[in-house]
Amino acid sequence: MPKDEIYRHPVETIEDFCFDQTVSAAFDDMVERSVPGYRTLIANIGPIAAHFLTAGGRAYDLGCSHGAASLAIFQALKENKRKIIAVDSATAMIDACRSRIAAAGAEQWIETETAKLQDVPIEDAAVIVLNLTLQFIPIAERDDIIKQLYQGLNMGGACILTEKIELAAPADDQLFRELHENFKRANLYSDLEISQKRKALENVLLRESLAMHEQRLHQAGFRQVQVWFQCLSFVSILAIK
Ligand SMILES: C[S@@+](CC[C@H](N)C(=O)[O-])C[C@H]1O[C@@H](n2cnc3c(N)ncnc32)[C@H](O)[C@@H]1O
Repeated sequence: MPKDEIYRHPVETIEDFCFDQTVSAAFDDMVERSVPGYRTLIANIGPIAAHFLTAGGRAYDLGCSHGAASLAIFQALKENKRKIIAVDSATAMIDACRSRIAAAGAEQWIETETAKLQDVPIEDAAVIVLNLTLQFIPIAERDDIIKQLYQGLNMGGACILTEKIELAAPADDQLFRELHENFKRANLYSDLEISQKRKALENVLLRESLAMHEQRLHQAGFRQVQVWFQCLSFVSILAIK
């Protein structure tokens, strides 16, 4: 797996973070060393999604990157395979995703689309996964997106929403930020890498509070909204229609 060395050396002007070829090449290493609990998230998204797919319907993996969640769902479905639609707006991410799907022999079941998730019609969905994706979309667009996803979900279907959140109390937010930086240091990122990446993400990864996410899901109509995972400020919510 190519190592993430994107911010290893000092950069004069730090550009906004984007999911281009450079990021895609380092993404697998980056996500594991930067997101506490990433493996646990993926390992659980498979079986959780499979639970909601037993009665039929499709799975959507929106902002799929390299398809980790789609492949986890594919594997968890065992002999009861369902169609999975993996969507990402970044060509470099989808290209790598396609290679992964081919390597797993899953082309028949996992369809890929290069598109903004806002433009993808959601049909006959039993599960919709937004694993660390909504946080990269402007806040003003999020209410409409969640409403649209709710409309496309079958009754009893689920949305799995994972986000890096802002903690309500500034002292807690600061503490979790420091603990997250320690996690990155333990994974061999230097202080320079941590600070340059933080700057690059500043205007791109837009956090909201857990209460805000829960309120948005309830307002869209979801009847059960429950946190099933949290590691520091990374939270995953299971919302059921
Ligand atoms: C942190 S990554 C998601 C990780 C991935 N879901 C996983 O489980 O490994 C965020 C992804 O969202 C994609 N993305 C951002 N905005 C998007 C949009 N409007 N529509 C579709 N994909 C989007 C990015 O290209 C990127 O691949």
